[in-house]
Amino acid sequence: MTEFEVAPTDLPKGALGLTVTEVTHYTDRLFHFRTTRPASFRFRSGEFVMIGLMVGEKPIYRAYSIASPNWSDDLEFFSIKVPDGPLTQHLQQIKPGDTVLMRPKPTGTLVHDALIPGKRLWMFSTGTGIAPFASLIRDPESYAKFDELILTQTCRQVDELKFGLDLVESVKSDELLNELCDTSKLRFYATTTRENFGKMGRITNLIRSGELFADLGVAPFDKDIDRGMICGSMAMLQEIKTLLEESGLTEGSNAQPGEFVIERAFVG
Ligand code: A2P
Repeated sequence: MTEFEVAPTDLPKGALGLTVTEVTHYTDRLFHFRTTRPASFRFRSGEFVMIGLMVGEKPIYRAYSIASPNWSDDLEFFSIKVPDGPLTQHLQQIKPGDTVLMRPKPTGTLVHDALIPGKRLWMFSTGTGIAPFASLIRDPESYAKFDELILTQTCRQVDELKFGLDLVESVKSDELLNELCDTSKLRFYATTTRENFGKMGRITNLIRSGELFADLGVAPFDKDIDRGMICGSMAMLQEIKTLLEESGLTEGSNAQPGEFVIERAFVG
């Protein structure tokens, strides 16, 4: 048995066991892991689930966006490592063969159903907030619904952008995906704030200064064209929400679709 392996008969009530198949450490603060996907588990691209580990005798859970698209045979997650984080201090040690627990009830607002139709989809993220968008940019529905997709990610350091940079490149060269949709519609706007990179600055400041629009050659936010999805820290969510609202966009939800949506599951 590996350290976190759990026999199917020992799974806590209400949990499915996912077998870890691959772990990639990007930095001392970020890692990605892949697991098996139970045949019965269905979700919408962009949703999150409760992910956990047996730590000693008891399970510890946290909300995680599913980073893989809904058609994928496996599940992917992107995680921070918090030295004394109740879950991530252990989760960062998982190895292939270990068992990650999942409560199989996906939910969330970063889904197409919560947006009214538009022409351009903005996906704003900081750090691991890119995870739900890693799912959405591999979902053909995203390309069917929008003429243009712009993913932004801001991280402190260059190494933290590697997951997103590699992912976008793999999406663009994925032959199967390109048979189903035109991934040239996708652009990635990556910035850092604490280490030199081609583009630097918080996305919020780049929006306010107009640099974002100038760099991409697009007009400022227009509620008839632009739709937004936001995933990141509470302060970042709030600031982008205000900026979109100042442009006349209104927040939506599953119950009442709107022009932008926010994922609040990971903050507070
Ligand atoms: P900064 O370095 O200026 O704090 P973290 O690693 O702490 O989760 O942060 C991820 C990225 O989000 C960092 O580049 C950070 O910039 C940026 N960030 C933090 N707060 C905000 C905010 N209110 N609006 C936009 N970006 C933010």
